[in-house]
Amino acid sequence: MAVDLLLGLQWGDEGKGKIVDVLTSNYNIIARFQGGPNAGHTLVFNGKKHVLHTIPSGIFHDDATNLVGNGVVIDPVIFKGELDKLEEQNIDYRKSLLISRKAHIILPTHRLLDAASEASKGKAKIGSTLKGIGPTYMDKTGRNGIRVGDLELSDWKERYRNLADKHESMIAYYNVDIEYNLKELEEEFFKAIDVLKSLTFIDSEEYIYQAQKAEKSILAEGAQGSLLDIDFGTYPFVTSSNTTAAGACTGLGVAPNQIGDVFGIFKAYTTRVGSGPFPTELFDEDGKTMGRVGNEFGATTGRPRRCGWLDLVALKYACRVNGVTQLMMMKGDVLSGFKTLKVCTQYKYKGKTISHLPYNIEPENVEPIYTEFSGWNEDLTEMSDASELPKALNEYIDFLEKELEIPITIVSVGPDRKQTIFRQQLV
Ligand code: IMP
Repeated sequence: MAVDLLLGLQWGDEGKGKIVDVLTSNYNIIARFQGGPNAGHTLVFNGKKHVLHTIPSGIFHDDATNLVGNGVVIDPVIFKGELDKLEEQNIDYRKSLLISRKAHIILPTHRLLDAASEASKGKAKIGSTLKGIGPTYMDKTGRNGIRVGDLELSDWKERYRNLADKHESMIAYYNVDIEYNLKELEEEFFKAIDVLKSLTFIDSEEYIYQAQKAEKSILAEGAQGSLLDIDFGTYPFVTSSNTTAAGACTGLGVAPNQIGDVFGIFKAYTTRVGSGPFPTELFDEDGKTMGRVGNEFGATTGRPRRCGWLDLVALKYACRVNGVTQLMMMKGDVLSGFKTLKVCTQYKYKGKTISHLPYNIEPENVEPIYTEFSGWNEDLTEMSDASELPKALNEYIDFLEKELEIPITIVSVGPDRKQTIFRQQLV
């Protein structure tokens, strides 16, 4: 059976966790394939909010198996914190959570290195979540990393020490003011490692192969967004993994011809947290309203998100890079009350009008060209059927579908599982 993918098409925070949770009843296995605790996937049901960082968003469903794939980087301390929260809610994760032996481990010194690297950049900061993501992926590609499977080896602590010592000399090289007590950090780390070791480690590519053979349905859950992809994002203001569809192949060991549907998740407007170019960013009251009504604060860092109009140039690019087959529009409810809405359809770039995403999208290079739409005043949050959606919103959606040439199958009208409108039958 083919593996379906669910990906964010913007700069992250699109609402992927909610949709995975909504779709989980259609799948046997939910698998994370990249990223790590930089992600914050928010799920709301039965009046309660849950935030997951590394654990797949299917964990609240009794029948789903949740796999942390080889492409993910795991911070044992944060992972343990997530498990503790699940325990408090009597979620029996022991039988439903599997971890790839090939996933890499974030060491305390990776986090320190992240902080040192950012501090050394001054104004050119990436705006990293400082979870050690970049340094851990650097060690992975530099062939120095420690993997989950290494924890089963007798000499892993020696390898740990060697790597941590090397990191300490690198931190000193940055010559920035970073205070830390490694002993304390290590105490917490090794306790968390013991918890991690009590979970089930697997050879995940073999597991997925056998699951496919046994006709099990699999949904691969992306983290961050396509515009943060290490190759296709707004480099260097990106994360350190492939957040796009190809990342699911390398992050799980799924062959490209085994990919089925690709669900592309986007917000009805755009947000970005951290530094980097954002052509449709708003600095006026409209942007502030989006931030306030949309509660646009990072689920991992609490930082306010930058807000702006929907950018169709960037969205088209993301749809193409990922081969999106169905779109899901999030936070439609946040746009209620705007008199007019704008959608960027082209850029003015070096004196020309262009429709594709160019190499440089800094403010001095691109100026968005907008199409305007009438807004609507209706509160969408209580709506449950597509027939209830206001005419102006339908016009907005119809325009996007026509431009993107992909159906918008779900419109989300609030954070709760129940606030999900299916415009068409899925799959
Ligand atoms: P890092 O992945 O923590 O190194 O952060 C690199 C960039 O990606 C920063 O601009 C972060 O704000 C952004 N980023 C990383 N993870 C997420 C996410 O899950 N949602 C939104 N932005 C993210």
